[in-house]
Amino acid sequence: MTSPVVDIYLTADHAEISLREDARLGLTSSPKWLPSKWFYDARGSELFEEITRLPEYYPTRAERSILVTHAGDIARRTGAHTLVELGSGSSEKTRLLLGAMRAEGTLREYVPLDVSETALRDAIAGMHEGFPMLAIHAVVGDFTKHLDRIPGQAPRMVAFLGGTIGNLFPDERATFLSELHETLAPGDWLLLGTDLVKDPGVLVPAYDDAAGITAEFNRNVLAVLNRELGGDFDIENYEHVALWDSENEWIEMRLRSTAAAKVTLSELALDIVLEAGEEIRTEISAKFRRKGVERELATAGFGLDSWWTDPEGRFALSLARAR
Ligand code: SAH
Ligand code: AVI
Repeated sequence: MTSPVVDIYLTADHAEISLREDARLGLTSSPKWLPSKWFYDARGSELFEEITRLPEYYPTRAERSILVTHAGDIARRTGAHTLVELGSGSSEKTRLLLGAMRAEGTLREYVPLDVSETALRDAIAGMHEGFPMLAIHAVVGDFTKHLDRIPGQAPRMVAFLGGTIGNLFPDERATFLSELHETLAPGDWLLLGTDLVKDPGVLVPAYDDAAGITAEFNRNVLAVLNRELGGDFDIENYEHVALWDSENEWIEMRLRSTAAAKVTLSELALDIVLEAGEEIRTEISAKFRRKGVERELATAGFGLDSWWTDPEGRFALSLARAR
């Protein structure tokens, strides 16, 4: 196997600076918020993998079933040489795509990009077995900042799986998609996973599981702040909240302080006051409809080529082409 190349654009310093800025901004706002990308330290990435195996969390299984059925179509239609993957995490489902591209005879290079260096390194190590000859050029980076640095030979396909696009707000999605479009050549491909609007009776438990793993994942962001910014959040005093916002069609996760608290982030020389019952928004997870996805893609310069869902219509994969 060729040795993997790992480009690091999110150095420890850089990550700390942007975590500091985000924490200061979010925790001094009203209502308080934190960006969801800070869930994913080594523990957070492990917890996310546990979430994907929960009975209530259907998106991973639904997306996997679409890939099982259509990875061959995707490889054939795109003829891509490079598979770029944004927010690649464990790269687990990606193997289906890589396998299909290899069978098609087009696969040359895999470019996973993630903020989580541990997740990225574990994923690369695991690729060796199934894909010993694959060239890997990994990027530790932020897909809201480093899209212009993505390597790879044309034609490229950029996969953005798992429904992670739904963790961006609509204006952030529009910026992200148009920046992505700018980095691609006409004819390059985007494979986009989106979770679909459905009964809140199915959606809410997916984000509030009986075993409490999602609650632990949510609270992990406070552990990140305690460790990285010298915080003294009393983590057990924060309740996990997951609610369906029917107007915006997104799940919102929050952390609710069960008691009044004064929290110090010593690295920021910042004291934050929380009232009993006050909530910090930690994530949105938007759910989509075909029309909306098609419109957002078109606005950014992508034409929808194919739309596939799982048999139960819970999750969609869109294959789109840069115009
Ligand atoms: N694609 C995988 C993992 C989804 S979890 C799947 O479908 O199962 C979301 C992943 O995106 C995590 O690995 C997280 O570390 C990464 N991530 C979140 N925000 C990011 C950002 N702004 N830039 C790069 N990676 C990010
Ligand atoms: C990564 N992302 C698509 C997940 C989601 O479903 O929005 C993150 C997650 N949050 C809670 N559970 C899973």
